[in-house]
This record gives sequence, structure tokens and C-alpha cells, in this order.
Amino acid sequence: MSVKNSYRVLLLEAIHPVAQKRLEESGFYVERELKAFKGEELISRAQGFHAVGIRSKTQMKSQILQSLPDLEMIGAFCIGTNQIDLDHANALGVPVFNAPYSNTRSVAELMVCEMIALARQLGDRNMNAHKGVWQKSAVGANEIRGKTLGIVGYGHIGSQLSVLAEAMGLNVIYYDIVKKLPLGNATPESTLEDLLQKSDFVSFHVPETPLTKNMMGQKEIALMKKGAYLMNASRGTVVDISALATALETEHLAGAAVDVFPKEPASNEDLFTSELQNMRNVILTPHIGGSTEEAQEAIGYEVAESIIRYFKSGATSGAVNFPAVDVAMPLEGVPRIVNLHKNVPGVLGAINSIVSQCGGNIQAQHLSTDPHIGYLIMDMGSGDAEEATKKISELPTSLKTRLL
Ligand code: NAI
Repeated sequence: MSVKNSYRVLLLEAIHPVAQKRLEESGFYVERELKAFKGEELISRAQGFHAVGIRSKTQMKSQILQSLPDLEMIGAFCIGTNQIDLDHANALGVPVFNAPYSNTRSVAELMVCEMIALARQLGDRNMNAHKGVWQKSAVGANEIRGKTLGIVGYGHIGSQLSVLAEAMGLNVIYYDIVKKLPLGNATPESTLEDLLQKSDFVSFHVPETPLTKNMMGQKEIALMKKGAYLMNASRGTVVDISALATALETEHLAGAAVDVFPKEPASNEDLFTSELQNMRNVILTPHIGGSTEEAQEAIGYEVAESIIRYFKSGATSGAVNFPAVDVAMPLEGVPRIVNLHKNVPGVLGAINSIVSQCGGNIQAQHLSTDPHIGYLIMDMGSGDAEEATKKISELPTSLKTRLL
């Protein structure tokens, strides 16, 4: 494809309208559906589109991918990408873009709310008041000002929480396996153990990895101060729920807020069960840390921008299954050739010799590879770019070639 602005994008699953607006402003043809499609129906609905935008319900597995010959990229307007066969998409030269950080602020805000809610036993007192029980007492109710918040995982969410918590008068300490620049007056701790022993609130913001699996077990929970609070809105595998339940029962911990669970219902129709249900001062939420309308809008905007950048500049930075190349939009009048090829020796030499045969002068060249494919973006300062594109696309190593 070489005609600019002729790209067709199908948005499924009621993706935020801001995505359609942004894409249309950039000259894309967009169709938007409120529901998810599957199987043959999905293949037929998505036929002829160059990009498909999905959320978590649309399964883009092998059979679907290979039945959509015009598909050039997938926009996952969500965080997770398990619903897509990423390796197969890579093999077909289809990058997948998601929006991992658009809901950062939503999670951080919920954590601030939960610290106050736990310190004031808001959940229980609210429930009692609804039942007619008047529980007016200051016993066990505290301000959060002056308390210490320990943040485990000082990434996007952890560092945002750090800023908000300091503004509320908390002292912030954090532990991360990577050296991170502290924001404000936050102080790094060199071990998780140190952090656990010093904190009144401990909040987890780590990814799911073998290292974080059950990183809070019985032994670690025992290191927390008596009367401290534990909060987990990261991944359900991070905290051993039975160990947490025991610590709450024995009143070693004064409360907990848990948003993610080892086993979560697949849909809102399925029953949720947890050992933590009906426990004193325990806030249970259905994995809603990042679920806000603002986050949905931010996701719509972020993935739409990735679609625009990919088609108009070739940039793949942020793709979850593809070699990353980050480039600015091409300069006016400077043709850009984008080539996806098998990652075998000699490709670059062959391409460069075609460019010189076509009288071209390479102004800029960016290459990134993974074990299987190489992705090249090349700005041609002079010469016959159309001829060069044609010849490059005919190389036996070329998988996809386009002229922007
Ligand atoms: P991020 O990748 O920006 O930050 C994670 C941090 O954890 C990094 O700084 C990393 O170095 C650190 N880390 C990794 N392993 C560690 C270990 N063993 N010990 C200490 N630190 C470690 O991720 P982000 O965006 O801040 O997300 C954090 C978590 O929150 C993820 O698990 C994500 O899935 C979850 N999340 C949950 C949401 C919800 O709705 N409850 C919404 C959004 C994210």
C-alpha cells in the first residue's frame, strides 16, 4: 500500500469514541462497533480492514489472523494481550499495540482512597450504618498524615502514588529491584524486609513474574508492623491470600485492601469467592484499580496515536510483539521505505545496493530485529523511490514493503 490516508480501521467492543475522532481527524476511514465478534463472523466483519481495534473479548487467534490478508496491525485498546496470538501476528508482520500506562493515575488515586478508608474503617462503618448499626467511636480510627507508606514496585503506578501520598502528608519509602529516581522526598529501601518493618501501609505495584509470585507469604507478612495495612492492586499472584487471611484473623494486620486475586471470575455473571470475604476491615474490589472513564478515554487516545504513527511514520515503539523502531514523521518530500524482512545475513547489503542502483541517497536508516524478523525504516533523499520499493519488495528475504 502506498496511498496515504487510505487506511481502513475497524474498532470493536465499544472502544472510546475519542479513538474514532482522532483517527478520522488524521484521514483514516473508521467503522466502530459496540460488540465483540468471534470466529467466522469476525473474519467476515474485519475483511478488508488494515487495522482492527479490540478490547479483551475479541479473540485474535491464528485462524483469524491468517484469514485477514489485509490486516497490517492490531490495536489492543486495553492492557492485556493474551487474547491475541502474538507470535503468529509477529510471523505475519502484524504489530500489536496496547496501552499499558493509560490507567496509571486511576490506580494511584484508588490507593490514596483505600489508605484513608482502611485507617477510618470506612468499609465496615458504612456497611453497619446501612444495616442500622450506629458505630460512633474514635477507637482504631487514625489520620494518614505522618504515617509511613511503603511502596513495593516504584514504576509508573508506584511513583505516581508516591507523589499523591506525600501531598497527603505521608512519609514515603519504596523498594524496587531496579534503581529508581526517588520523587519528592521518597526514600528507597535496599530490601523488602526493611520496607515491611518500617511501613504503616504497604502497597504492591509490581508485575507478575516468577520473582513476585507469593512475594508476600506468611514470613513476609509477619515482618510487617502489628496493626499495619496491606494493599494489593497489582497481580493476584503477589500475595498469599491464606497467609493474609491468617494475619487479619489474628489481628496482626488491622486491615487490607485487595483488588486482584489468584482466581478471578471470567465475567460479571460468574460468582466470586475468596477467603477474605466477610473479614473485618477488609476492602475487596473486583479488579477495578484502572477502571475509570478517564482511563478508557486515555486508552482510546493512546492506541489511536499508535495506529496513526505506525501507518504514517512506520514507528513500532510500544508494540508488544515486534522489533521497536521509534522515528518521527517523514519530512515533506522525503520518501520513506518501510521493509519487514526475514532476519538472515546480507539483507541490509542487498537493500542498500538496490537504493544505489535506483540513484538513491539514504538520508536516514533505522533497523531493529528480533530472532525471526528485521524491521527497517529508510528515508531516501534522492532517486526513484517507487522503483526501489518495488525491487526491495521482490527480494526473497522481504516479507512486507511499503512506501510512505
Ligand atoms: P511498571 O512496569 O511501570 O512498574 C513495575 C515496577 O515493579 C518496576 O519499577 C519494576 O522494576 C518493579 N519490580 C519488578 N519486579 C520487582 C520485584 N520483584 N521487587 C520489587 N520491584 C519489582 O508497572 P505499573 O504500570 O506501575 O503496574 C504495576 C502493576 O499494576 C502491574 O502488575 C499491573 O498489571 C498492575 N495494574 C493493575 C491494575 C488494576 O486494575 N488493578 C491496572 C493497571 C496495572
